[in-house]
This record gives sequence, C-alpha cells and structure tokens, in this order.
Amino acid sequence: MKGFTLWFTGLSGAGKSTLAEQVEQILLERGMKVEILDGDVVRTNLSKGLGFSKEDRDINIRRIGFVCHLLTRNDVVAISAAISPYKSVRNENRKLIGRFVEVYVKCPIEVLSERDVKGLYKKALKGEIKNFTGVDDPYEEPDNPEIIVDSSKETVQESIAKIIRTLELMNYIPASDSENEYSAEEEEEIKQRLKALGYI
Ligand code: ADX
Repeated sequence: MKGFTLWFTGLSGAGKSTLAEQVEQILLERGMKVEILDGDVVRTNLSKGLGFSKEDRDINIRRIGFVCHLLTRNDVVAISAAISPYKSVRNENRKLIGRFVEVYVKCPIEVLSERDVKGLYKKALKGEIKNFTGVDDPYEEPDNPEIIVDSSKETVQESIAKIIRTLELMNYIPASDSENEYSAEEEEEIKQRLKALGYI
C-alpha cells in the first residue's frame, strides 16, 4: 500500500487525538505502518519552545507537515492531530504531501468549554490564557475537507466509520468485509463529497 497523510484539524478538545489513536489501531490491524504526530506531543520535542503566535503555530504546522511528507513518501500512513488553525499552511502541506486527506473535527465552542477536559477553556475565558484558539484567537475552517466529523453529534465509532469508509472509497486502504457501521444515507453522503472533490 502507498502512504498517505490523514490530517486532522479542529479546536482543542474536539477529539482529534482520540480519533487519531482509534484510526491508527484499525490501520495497524490491516497491516499498515502508521505514525501519529500529535500537537501536544510534538510540542514537547520537535517543536519544543514554540508558543502560540501565528508565526510559531505556522512553524509548528510546517514541521509536522514536513515529517508527514517524509513518512508518506516511504509508504507510512502519517496521522497529524494538531489544531492547525490556519488554512494557508494546511494547504501548503496538502501541496507538499499530495496524498493528503483532511478531516475537519467540528465541535461548537459551547460544547468544548462545557467539556473542558484540560481546564483550558475556563482559563482562556477568564483571560488567564491569551490567544486561545476559538476564544480570542482565530480558527479557519477548511473549505473542502475530504471528511467532516461532528463530535457533538456523532459517537467516536460513527466518526471512525466515516473516516475508514472514505479512505476505502479513495482506495487508500483496502476494503474490509466486516460489518458496516454506517447507514445507506451516510454512505451516500461520503460518496457525494468525494465526487464533488473529483476523487470518484
Ligand atoms: S497549533 O495551533 O500549533 O496547531 P497544537 O495542536 O500544536 O496547536 O497545540 C494545541 C494544544 O496546546 C491544545 O490542545 C492545548 O492543550 C495547548 N494550548 C496551550 N495554549 C494554547 C493556545 N493559546 N491555543 C490553543 N491551544 C493551546
């Protein structure tokens, strides 16, 4: 199988890392080589010392994109799970990598600040953390992501099924003959999106 990059984008706490880990498990079970580049992890090594200004975020995302490019061309599945709030750098990475599947993990800010797993939204809303994405820093939604999942409406299993099915229809991974976890309407929605993007 050829490599590709699965690029998650979305606000902090939307579910990017959870989805990335579960997709990784499925791909490993199907015999693929997989590497995850998680924003929080990358920032402790590859991007240690970078902050959250636009400039630093762009450097962070370019670095992740470059590593994804190296992995992808060596037939590894690279999975990025960073906020990646700026459209232009995401699109730079798309161009560099080529086989690039963008997953927009949507979730309303009200739900995220209610969940607030890391307690960061509360701090950002009180002004204790500045430039927090979605609170007082921008997040630019992707225009044409290959996949949109909404973690306020879908279960993790539903979102995963959508991602895996899209990758199968794009012929990036072999189809499995296990039970479908999605309805005929969902399948149709995925196909319409891929048709509109010119993949099928
Ligand atoms: S990105 O903008 O450069 O893509 P990245 O995904 O690496 O961000 O890091 C985001 C994580 O850093 C968040 O999940 C959160 O835990 C933490 N964080 C700390 N400060 C901020 C901030 N100002 N904005 C967003 N996330 C922040």
